[in-house]
Amino acid sequence: MSKFYVTTPIYYVNDKPHIGHAYTTILADVLARYHRLAGDETHFLTGTDEHGLKVQQAADARGVTPQEHVDSTVVRFQEVWQRLDITHDDFIRTTEDRHRTIVQKILQDLYDRGEIYAADYDGWYDVTSETFVTEKDVDVNQTGGSTPNIIRITERNYFFRMGYYRDWLIKYIEDNPLFIQPDFRRNETLGFLKKGLNDLCISRPKSRLNWGIELPFDSDFVTYVWFDALVNYISAVGYLSDNATFEKWWPANYHLIGKDILTTHTVYWPTMLKAIGLPMPQTIFAHGWWLMGKDKMSKSSGNVVNPLALSEKYGVDAFRYFLMAEMPLGQDASFSEEAFTRRYNTDLANDLGNMLSRVLKLVNAYCDGRIPEPGPAGNEEEALRQACLKAAQEMLVSVTEMRLDKGLAGLSGVVRETNRYLEVRQPWTLAKTGQTELFNTSMYYAAEALRIVSGMLHPVMPGKMSALRQALGVGADAPAYDTLAVWGQLAPGTAVTKPESLFPRIETKVAGKDKTEAKSGTPAKAASSEEGVALIEYTDFARVELRTARIVAAEKVNGAEKLLYLDIDVGGEARKIVAGIAQHYTVDELPGKTIVIVANLKPAKIRGLKSEGMLLAASHGDQLRLVTVDGVLPSGGTVR
Ligand code: MSP
Repeated sequence: MSKFYVTTPIYYVNDKPHIGHAYTTILADVLARYHRLAGDETHFLTGTDEHGLKVQQAADARGVTPQEHVDSTVVRFQEVWQRLDITHDDFIRTTEDRHRTIVQKILQDLYDRGEIYAADYDGWYDVTSETFVTEKDVDVNQTGGSTPNIIRITERNYFFRMGYYRDWLIKYIEDNPLFIQPDFRRNETLGFLKKGLNDLCISRPKSRLNWGIELPFDSDFVTYVWFDALVNYISAVGYLSDNATFEKWWPANYHLIGKDILTTHTVYWPTMLKAIGLPMPQTIFAHGWWLMGKDKMSKSSGNVVNPLALSEKYGVDAFRYFLMAEMPLGQDASFSEEAFTRRYNTDLANDLGNMLSRVLKLVNAYCDGRIPEPGPAGNEEEALRQACLKAAQEMLVSVTEMRLDKGLAGLSGVVRETNRYLEVRQPWTLAKTGQTELFNTSMYYAAEALRIVSGMLHPVMPGKMSALRQALGVGADAPAYDTLAVWGQLAPGTAVTKPESLFPRIETKVAGKDKTEAKSGTPAKAASSEEGVALIEYTDFARVELRTARIVAAEKVNGAEKLLYLDIDVGGEARKIVAGIAQHYTVDELPGKTIVIVANLKPAKIRGLKSEGMLLAASHGDQLRLVTVDGVLPSGGTVR
């Protein structure tokens, strides 16, 4: 067993929680839950950043003290985390004594050792962001001198010898590729460092700002908010207050951050730690931004997504699932309710919902509500068993590789695989025709697949998966990976309950723009791609199940000169599809060909005939040829 210490940024207590905050916190929660599931001892820290000018101004505007102000606003974050099922082990507030005293001890120690020194500063200061800025940030044209928020100041201040650590930091980052992730963010930091690194001003005179931690060696100053805030990652786990706890958790395994706070975390924080004399965190991981279409979410544009409104509308678990499955970690993703609905309906309402209701309904209808004893396994069963165990294992790998979207796509694949398995075995027919042994086997295998998949999805959708697992008779508690990595843990005789609809379908209004999107099959996200090229994510592609199929027979469709009706075999499953190829192929030349079909297309009625899939063909002008497989392969194979 190993330990896992994960942190989120501490959020500005003045802000209203939005999807950006919710995303980082849900991500940390999901990682923490997967590590607990894997048996790791886990510590998950979040909290709030409560000092600074904006807090002071907001308190003044309300006519309350800054402390009263933060005490009333911090509740917004605490409540949201509770509603979103966040299982943090600790919530730190920078106004707590346990934090304040440690910041002061660190400052005193650095000052005593000459790492912090006093100097006169003469230059530009941005009052809004509370940072010193350079000449080029001052918009001379606009105001004939400076922007309204940038003022010229000459004052005495305290500086941290950050520049001294530049060469060390460059080397450390180059020697430790996992330190800053993803790779392109590492390069961003290196680029920044190579331009040179100044010392960091870590004080603010009380005449300008007094809501902060007083410098222990000069009571005319408070500490710069970022220097104060970053220390939370060590003050919360007992640095200089509880050695045993600190030794247990530090260094952190993951600091999760958004890409906008990369420099503070990958330059300020490591140099501070180095000066303090502490080891570096293992990985600082910067995720991308949630955009509205192509635009940044911002309060001024009024396009900020409120996480609570969405999770109340569609359920906390569906919201958590969407955020994790939709964003390839590290990149930006665009948020839209259509994208949410599409993913919800496909992965949850259709695929998982079908699997769950089929298993529970059939066990209730034909086995007195008890999981039956399986008979001997055939090839189909063995394939399903292997697919489940592989997806479970790969989900954990995707956690360590920070590719949750990939792991979840794999689990969705197994759900579809199980539905396909049920369609091949047709247990409803087996039950009616008295083929009890095969029926029992197929029910056991599908139920066991459900046990594993629901267990592996539990960290992402704890509420719904607990309900599902309770219905399946395996208990509502968070499962352990040990039980999910082994097939056959579901005891025959286990009582299941009647299915409840865990993911009711969201009905969408197909109108205007949505309709075109639905028709062309182009995901909304693609619309945000650059230069008119419809780029899709891998996960979009992974939702299309391409398989090899063998044509068994072909016939003409009465009254439709372009259509043929084909009997095909997809890995032992007989299907029928209508194909518009009659002008290019005769019925006799088709049988025996191994073609490629879209196997998870919703069945459709064409000219009154049921069509279960779509074949792929290449065309150019008037020509059309089928996409076939080069060489001999059994049907039902995966095409990638
Ligand atoms: N208080 C500092 C962090 C100090 S950590 C020692 C801070 N707070 S914040 O509340 O402004 O932002 C917290 C996080 O939310 C950042 O990681 C930021 O990237 C993230 N997000 C804010 N908007 C976002 C999106 N639209 N999308 C994804 N995350 C974004 O910065």
